[in-house]
Amino acid sequence: MTLVLQVDPTNPQPELIAQAAAVIRAGGLVAFPTETVYGLGADGLSAPAVARIFAAKRRPANDPLILHLASADQLALVTPEVPPLAQRLAQAYWPGPLTLILRRAAQVPAGIAADGPTVAVRVPAHAVAQALIRAAGTPIAAPSANLFSKPSPTRATDVLEDLNGRIDMLLDGGATQIGIESTVLDLTTAQPTLLRPGGLPLEQIEALIGPVLLPGEAGEREHAVVPEGQAATAPGMLLKHYAPRARLLYAVGTTASPDRGKAALRTIAEETLARGSRLGLLLCDEHMAALDDLAAERVSLGSCADLASIAARLFSSMRALDRTGINAILTHDYDNSGLGRALNDRLYRAAEGKTIKV
Ligand code: TXA
Ligand code: MG
Repeated sequence: MTLVLQVDPTNPQPELIAQAAAVIRAGGLVAFPTETVYGLGADGLSAPAVARIFAAKRRPANDPLILHLASADQLALVTPEVPPLAQRLAQAYWPGPLTLILRRAAQVPAGIAADGPTVAVRVPAHAVAQALIRAAGTPIAAPSANLFSKPSPTRATDVLEDLNGRIDMLLDGGATQIGIESTVLDLTTAQPTLLRPGGLPLEQIEALIGPVLLPGEAGEREHAVVPEGQAATAPGMLLKHYAPRARLLYAVGTTASPDRGKAALRTIAEETLARGSRLGLLLCDEHMAALDDLAAERVSLGSCADLASIAARLFSSMRALDRTGINAILTHDYDNSGLGRALNDRLYRAAEGKTIKV
């Protein structure tokens, strides 16, 4: 059974945090809110505890985990060497939605890092995450608290949908604020490399440290994808990731001309309905309004201009549409800047790389 504790998201009750920290110290699994998505935490310096995370999530061992620290002062626990760029980024953006890839210290279990020489580290901003790491007195290894390849959990109910009975405890701190995972930046490469766009926009990183290398073909600032089964430096790069059960119809090129975008979405929706599919609409409000005559399930993502609100609702909306039993979900891309880059990345992966160019 999974014990669920309701915790105050801004002023977490010390006695509840102490209970959760005891589970972590005993080698157990605790799901907890961060400012991005819910994490599935275990003692990050205990190999058997870390192994339990992989089992509970049904996550392949070649997909490494992020270590969560209470502050940058704990970096010496997990890496032999803090490069100057890491210092600057930590000072500017921690606590916050930025994960740095650094060299792995010997005492960090190899299983966290898929046996590699590096480790992913971040300092989360959420008060519950902060309190839990401090009370546990150890770095906490935590992937997103979903079953492998399902949409990431942004609410306690999402965690229970995937992991009820598979983990010891869940700290329910309400909905997470950002709604998509942290940005992952590799600082062990010759030039800093973006492995996963996320809650901290690339522009903010480049404003501080200059140009960042984007994965993919030379010079191509686009999605990097590793075929399934192949060892991945960043398993966020696996194609089937964050996927709803229903097939995603992902229309790209909709931002260049809003009118053409709207017309294309209508065409795809009408063709899908004509084939007898049950359709869900995962569209921002202006696009949704243009299709309000169609017989489809719909979950509003908020104003097309408010990418933060869209990010906050994206994963829970995928889950909500899945629960209605539809077979296809129509969605569209965003301007590839700011949070739009992370939104496009998650949608591309959820669509398993199949896009409909409009
Ligand atoms: O916002 C987040 O990052 C959330 C919360 C819970 O902190 N966590 C999260 O963890 O998204 P997860 O396991 O779902 O994604 C971790 C990603 C991997 O997909 C991979 O891209 C990268 O972090 N990663 C972890 N260790 C790495 C390593 N040693 N080298 C390269 N990439 C690594
Ligand atoms: Mg994940």
